[in-house]
Amino acid sequence: MAQWRDSLIQGWNQGWFDAPERLGDRLALLLGAAPGEVLVSDTITHNLYKLLGYITEGQGITEGQGRARPVILSEGGNFPTDGYIAQGFCRFGGFEHRVVPEGEALEACLDERVAAVVLSHVHYRTGRLRDMAAITHQVHASGAEVVWDLAHSAGALPVDLAACGVRYAVGCTYKYLNGGPGAPAFLYVRRDCQNQGWQPLSGWLGHAAPFAFEADYAPAPGISQFRTGTHSPLAFAALEASLTLWQGVDLAALRHKSQRLIALFRESLADCLGQHGLSDITPDEAQRGSQVGLMAPAHGHAIVQALIARGVIGDYREPGLMRFGFAPLYLSHEDVWQAARQLREVLSAGEHLAPRFQQRGAVT
Ligand SMILES: Cc1ncc(COP(=O)(O)O)c(C=O)c1O
Repeated sequence: MAQWRDSLIQGWNQGWFDAPERLGDRLALLLGAAPGEVLVSDTITHNLYKLLGYITEGQGITEGQGRARPVILSEGGNFPTDGYIAQGFCRFGGFEHRVVPEGEALEACLDERVAAVVLSHVHYRTGRLRDMAAITHQVHASGAEVVWDLAHSAGALPVDLAACGVRYAVGCTYKYLNGGPGAPAFLYVRRDCQNQGWQPLSGWLGHAAPFAFEADYAPAPGISQFRTGTHSPLAFAALEASLTLWQGVDLAALRHKSQRLIALFRESLADCLGQHGLSDITPDEAQRGSQVGLMAPAHGHAIVQALIARGVIGDYREPGLMRFGFAPLYLSHEDVWQAARQLREVLSAGEHLAPRFQQRGAVT
């Protein structure tokens, strides 16, 4: 990085420092958000904690009666960090954690004691897409807030936070947005919900005057209060390059292409999955994100390893799920057709049974 070589810390005044807000504004265009409503920052894990704290501090405590809404609701079977953070937040914040059993309707658990609900827009295992507008309306009508996790929808399909009435969301940039390994996450707070109190990770860069070095915390105005500590300009530079490519992308066309790629992959494999003990759990077109899920109870991990050895990179999630993400921005129909062909060859040759594909790394 020439900026670091030539200017050392001067780089902070040459675009590094304001990158969380600048990149947030660029990202906003892909999320149906306005400038000043998205901050690129930390990880989804941190951002969920910040938002749960911010939301519940805003709801307040009634003198002598405690909290009117002491429950944080999360969904069973969701990506683990969402539930873990709800658990940790409840443990340290004196809240009660409640879980909606996987596959059950929200209504059964959404009562007047619920403060906030954490939900995924697209489910990380099944790829199922939720009706964000209807659920947001339902949660708000119950008097609670909802934090949407956009990890599997941002950059995969059109997301319109404003049209869906969303007030709070989090997401990552290292999946469909191609920000690179370890790229920073983001959070969204609708403008009229900003400036309502503190968030719990009250770090120095979220202070109103970080370089005044004052003894007491005072939140910065607007989305900047959701900053915590020092971010990585290297990671932000990679993400900025990616977001430049995203400028002007037609999200409706992107969605159309994602659907066609998925259809091609599934159709190319439909006749051979059953005979190898595999089943396709991908939802129908209108109800899915941009991934295909194939259940392979016996050899899922080994099949994915054999495919990776052939240059087709999917991943494996316990129990038994082979997951193929379709990044529509750069994957071609030819790529997808070749991937399906490779999978057929692996299965028919029993290639995955080789001992070298039985070893597991720390990341599957
Ligand atoms: C749906 C979902 N939420 C949260 C996370 C975790 O994100 P982070 O590592 O940025 O905290 C992931 C990671 O894959 C995810 O898929």
